Amino acid sequence: MSLQVPNVQELALTCNRPDQQIPDRYIRPEAGTEEVICGQGINTAIPVIDLAKLLNPQSSQEECAKLRSACQHWGFFQLVNHGVPDDVISDVRRDLTEFFKLPLEAKEAYAKPPDKYEGYGQHFVVSEKQKLDWGDLLHLRLRPTESRDLRFWPAHPSSFRNSMERYSLETAKVARCLLEFLAMDMGVDPESLLEVFRGQPQNMRVNYYPPCRQTGKVLGLSPHCDATSLTLLLHVNDVQGLQIRKDGKWLTIEALDGAFVVNVGDMLEILSNGRYRSVEHRAVVHPEKERISAAVFHQACRDATVGPLPELVTKDGGRPVYKSMAYEDFMKRFFSAKLDGRANVEGMKI
Ligand code: OGA
Ligand code: NI
Repeated sequence: MSLQVPNVQELALTCNRPDQQIPDRYIRPEAGTEEVICGQGINTAIPVIDLAKLLNPQSSQEECAKLRSACQHWGFFQLVNHGVPDDVISDVRRDLTEFFKLPLEAKEAYAKPPDKYEGYGQHFVVSEKQKLDWGDLLHLRLRPTESRDLRFWPAHPSSFRNSMERYSLETAKVARCLLEFLAMDMGVDPESLLEVFRGQPQNMRVNYYPPCRQTGKVLGLSPHCDATSLTLLLHVNDVQGLQIRKDGKWLTIEALDGAFVVNVGDMLEILSNGRYRSVEHRAVVHPEKERISAAVFHQACRDATVGPLPELVTKDGGRPVYKSMAYEDFMKRFFSAKLDGRANVEGMKI
């Protein structure tokens, strides 16, 4: 499925020496040439949504309008007051950081087999000629709990599994809550949307981006859209690097400490029949510091169909904007191609 490629954390140890060069397969001409704008300005920062305000009857309507606008126009927002306890977040941060500090052999005990999605390694490498991302990842299936394959769950640090378990439960609650508000916003029965996500299937992709002395020449993660419904991204350390496509330019995101950066994935764009947007994004790397981020993806259940919700198609005059496809086929299609901007979701358009 994905070809085996070198471990980037190890590669960076040698490549960052002054007398060394980065291998050609990592050099990305577009990394330094496309225009990047700073996302901290009043008109350029992504919206901030307050979950406590959404849940408070006094402010809910106003906050829900902001949520709708964020999903329609930006595809991204930061979520604050999300209710996930601080210690749950700090434990996950600590344990993920510790994992990547382990020697290579210890991490490779959890190596991703070529024919599996889970484990430590890389994804989306489909050709020997393809340019490569400057990063390694640890990919785990978190929910439903019976789908967990503990062979890939690090046993060190010893608190790792417990920390993930708690984090998974808390983030699943947040995602469910957001989906309920989105269902209300679209005017569909929340149960019909939640049914697609029965059992709340969830997986996690932890990204480890080593520093790169020639930072403008590499990309940590190629431009892509997330295939799934809602993604909750946590900055594990305080190094920024996420950029989103906005009006043809790259906009840098400055994550608020402890907030989730949430985005709409392809599946939610499709289910919403195009109301919400799955926006292209990428990650750049820091010249001196490592960066670690953890994305939790919310998938559909195995027997679901990925397609516009029938209620919405009716509202839209009987016109579905996207094809419908069995969930498993949809994911296979995503994982068998390289990451390529909006190609996955565009390919679903009728
Ligand atoms: C992802 C992702 C961005 C980041 O894992 O899908 O987009 O900043 N990560 O690491
Ligand atoms: Ni992503």
